[in-house]
Amino acid sequence: MAALKALGGTSDTFPEEASRWQRLEASAREILALYGYQEVRTPLLEEAAVFTQSLGQSDEIVTKQMYLLKDRGGRELALRPEGTAPVVRAFVERGLDKTGGLTRLYYLGPMFRAERPQAGRKRQFHQLGVEVFGTASPYQDAEVLLLLTRLLCEWRMKDWTLKINSIGCQGDRARILSDLKSRLTPHRQKLCRDCQVRLEKNPLRILDCKKADCQKATDGVDFSKAVCEACAAQFIQLTESLSLLQVKFVRDPHLVRGLDYYTRTTFEVEHPALGVQNAIGGGGRYDDLVARMGGQPVPAIGFALGLERVLMAQEKEVPNDSPDLMGAKVFVATVDFNDVPLAMVLAEGVRRHGISCVANLDDRPLKRQLEQAQKWRCQVVAIQGESERLKGVVALKQMASRTQIEVPEGHWFSKLQELLKS
Ligand code: HAM
Repeated sequence: MAALKALGGTSDTFPEEASRWQRLEASAREILALYGYQEVRTPLLEEAAVFTQSLGQSDEIVTKQMYLLKDRGGRELALRPEGTAPVVRAFVERGLDKTGGLTRLYYLGPMFRAERPQAGRKRQFHQLGVEVFGTASPYQDAEVLLLLTRLLCEWRMKDWTLKINSIGCQGDRARILSDLKSRLTPHRQKLCRDCQVRLEKNPLRILDCKKADCQKATDGVDFSKAVCEACAAQFIQLTESLSLLQVKFVRDPHLVRGLDYYTRTTFEVEHPALGVQNAIGGGGRYDDLVARMGGQPVPAIGFALGLERVLMAQEKEVPNDSPDLMGAKVFVATVDFNDVPLAMVLAEGVRRHGISCVANLDDRPLKRQLEQAQKWRCQVVAIQGESERLKGVVALKQMASRTQIEVPEGHWFSKLQELLKS
């Protein structure tokens, strides 16, 4: 029988790596709490309409990358390709669009996109995302970017570039699209095949294309003069407050982002360690999406960081970031298989004091058990075989120094605590 393997573009995370994930997630949760964000968890499976309505029918995630399935009742379902649309769906379903005020949410979890896998591009990947509902203030945009860069600093990453742009409001959109179309139509034949389709369906995305000819055709395109006065003023307030907050950024007039729901501010963080898939995160304002998904009009902004990419980039910047993995602090070894139940009692007593402990449960020679304790990086091995029991002692072996002492039964635990501290 052929060996079973994980699907391409998905991966298993073993303990060494899982501990890096846990540290990344724990520090993120701490920082997010500092800024007043609370966690929301939404299902991995949604009605496909959650995404088609929000991202738009022409969006590439919808047309090419969604994992679609039909349930037994024939409903079209999708594995979530991103977190914003489900959070907006949940926000409206809960009636939070009607309560007024500010809502700050974050989520952490897997997303699914049927993309061709390559370094940094997976079919199941993880995002840390934040969404703020209830304010159109440019200072909120600035604070969201401050939070984004604070997370990167917390993860000890320096080598990133934050790119920002404004793509204007819905009122500006028709004008910007028709300007872009009339500018690019004479160069139609020079555009790549995808961009020729985009020219009809979604010309903004041509600005994103990495192909040299398409980039040449869009050279010099800048919406800053095409956006309305209010959007232009909002963008100036944003950039001025970023400077005041000492958030480093560059303005990229071609940054339009892939998703259809953005209005006004868009941004992306790039990292050179990642090669072609160099975006570790991105986001923007989406002031019309809540209404588009059936709610009251509530302005909103958010971002998501791709955690696999964050870890890849972090590894380049902060080598050997992982401390040695520790399976347990204490190992209770046995001399005879019949001693195992007593070893279990001893181990449970250690755990009750909040100290991690593993007991040998197998019929294995002591030497093998010590090798196992070494592998798990246990600090102390406790042994109480028949000879120790007759003497009324517990033997404690310090793994670092390989020294062994015998301690009277009544004192063994306080001695163990002392050894663990030394
Ligand atoms: P996005 O740019 O599609 O935005 O994804 C955000 C990040 O997820 C990317 O910058 C990248 O790091 C990571 N990512 C995306 N696709 C993959 C993949 N196939 N493999 C590995 N990592 C990937 C969004 O998803 C928006 N919902 C962000 C947002 C939140 N906008 C407003 N609020």
